[in-house]
Amino acid sequence: MKIAQLVERKPWIGWLLFAGTAGAVFAAAVVGATIVERRQESAALRSMDPIDPVEPRSEVWGEGRPREYETWKATADTSFRSESGGSAMRDLIEEDPRIAILWAGYPFSRDYNQARGHAYAIQDVRNTLRTTGPMPATCWTCKSPDVPRLMDTMGVAAYYKGSLNDLGHEVVNPIGCKDCHDPKTMDLRITRPALVEAYARMGKDVTKSTHNEMRSLVCAQCHVEYYFSKDTARPNYLVFPWDSGFSAAKMEKFYDQNQFHDFVHKLSKTKVIKAQHPDFELYSQGVHARRGVSCADCHMPYKSEGSVKFTDHHIRSPLADMSTSCMVCHRQSEETLREDVYMRQRRVNERKFAVEDQIVRAHIEAAQAWKDSATEKEMEPALDKIRRAQWRWDWVAASNGLGFHAPDVAQQTLGQAMEFAQAARLEISRIRARRGKTDTVPMPDISTKEKAQAYIGLNMDSLRSVKAGQASMFRAWDSAARIREAGYGKKTP
Ligand code: HEC
Ligand code: HEC
Ligand code: HEC
Ligand code: HEC
Repeated sequence: MKIAQLVERKPWIGWLLFAGTAGAVFAAAVVGATIVERRQESAALRSMDPIDPVEPRSEVWGEGRPREYETWKATADTSFRSESGGSAMRDLIEEDPRIAILWAGYPFSRDYNQARGHAYAIQDVRNTLRTTGPMPATCWTCKSPDVPRLMDTMGVAAYYKGSLNDLGHEVVNPIGCKDCHDPKTMDLRITRPALVEAYARMGKDVTKSTHNEMRSLVCAQCHVEYYFSKDTARPNYLVFPWDSGFSAAKMEKFYDQNQFHDFVHKLSKTKVIKAQHPDFELYSQGVHARRGVSCADCHMPYKSEGSVKFTDHHIRSPLADMSTSCMVCHRQSEETLREDVYMRQRRVNERKFAVEDQIVRAHIEAAQAWKDSATEKEMEPALDKIRRAQWRWDWVAASNGLGFHAPDVAQQTLGQAMEFAQAARLEISRIRARRGKTDTVPMPDISTKEKAQAYIGLNMDSLRSVKAGQASMFRAWDSAARIREAGYGKKTP
């Protein structure tokens, strides 16, 4: 039977065919367009000369990839501010002078700013008052695509052994394409050995990760807790302390086993561990990680330009554009969801401040106990509790996103910090009471950054003048780098 006859007898078939054909045509057109577009895109990406593997400059990588390059460049935009985050320069000691007391005896008491966009990674290390004295080259590790090149040419251990200033002329490009991409295939890749090594110690091979895992692991090269080894055989070697696990308690166990501390607190003499920014670790314990949502899903969402879909490389707070970063999965209104984020962050913030207050008191009361001639043996258990309290408080406070990545875990960790801080204070008051001192230790006036820094004996003017004197060194680094880079990618005729 011919189709025409069939349609004559059963007219609905005609409609079905029509609809079907139209649908198929439409679908084919869409698929076709997508395929053509993808083919053009991937052909364009492939036909480009493979990038010189030493090439650190994102301008060069960005040639022919204008959408990724332009959005990457936009990380220099400092205009977005949310309730507790955003891209602006924010002086955290100014906002909360107690931070100076907590880091007394350590460079974070001098200068402590909120993280900004990747474009500022180099500039902010150069400008911070934390780098006025000699620092290890290891500090450059999470700042620049120049680092993998140095590791290749110098050897990893020799690179870490170097000094920040000696390698300054080699490290000038802020976080860029080469940190996350392969120069030949543009696939995502891991360029930092510390991540590979930490996985290996956990019995895992990071190179076997799925594509979706890679969308978080590229970030986990830097947005993690780490420390510089004090082992004399490999000084300042970068290590992620994940051997026992990702929680604050498990990392602390690792540090305890290695008898590690970053510095001795100037007031209380506590052996303190400074947390860096355990973003990947906190995120990994949250509901989004459990549901397979990656860092890139929220911080590098897909964007459309005409018919082209691409990954937004303007990495920043996802609250700046929730329509692309959250609303692809969530059905609430943007306002409701934003309020939900803020509510969780406010609760973490309240708890964080309450704990901070207790730890500051504990340091100052411990200092008084020493003056009241407490013995080391008596003080040891109290200082051990301050160490545990401050580590847990810092583990949450130094994480980016004010606990949003796993609010329950942040709250629980702060809860433990509170218990340790209060127990430490009780112990110190008993030590003093044994000497007949039952008065309340008075708290100093630390209501401003200046007052808090003066109280811990910092000479800020001298630090600022040392910093001002470094400007010509930075200019020399930049010009040396430009001359060296001019030689990259040149083929010998
Ligand atoms: C479910 C979405 C989501 C995922 C997944 C996610 N984040 Fe976030 N992130 C957020 C939100 C929301 C904030 C809070 C932003 C604010 O307060 O403005 C944030 C804040 C941050 C910040 C601070 C930004 C600022 O402006 O204060 C950093 C850094 C960050 N995240 C890194 C990461 C890393 C690294 C990962 C993966 C290990 C990750 N995030 C996974 C949603 C996400
Ligand atoms: C912090 C890591 C990171 C940096 C830096 C980075 N990218 Fe990406 N890039 C990604 C991620 C994640 C994706 C998504 C990959 C996927 O899911 O397949 C991506 C995707 C891409 C793609 C595939 C097409 C697309 O848009 O999805 C291209 C091309 C690309 N990036 C180019 C660049 C260029 C050029 C630079 C430097 C100007 C750069 N990237 C810097 C992480 C990064
Ligand atoms: C090579 C190390 C490195 C890698 C890889 C990296 N980051 Fe960062 N990130 C940093 C540093 C360093 C800063 C702080 C820069 C500053 O303050 O000058 C930062 C800042 C940020 C900020 C704050 C930006 C703002 O405007 O407030 C966000 C958000 C962020 N990173 C997310 C990510 C995500 C998501 C990934 C993975 C796709 C990633 N980062 C990969 C090192 C890295
Ligand atoms: C790729 C999908 C996806 C994206 C993108 C995403 N989420 Fe989610 N979100 C989920 C899933 C899945 C859950 C878990 C729902 C459940 O199991 O109840 C969730 C849960 C949440 C929760 C509840 C958390 C809790 O502890 O119960 C909040 C709040 C939230 N998301 C906020 C955001 C925000 C803000 C963004 C954008 C920055 C975002 N999400 C982006 C998938 C996503």
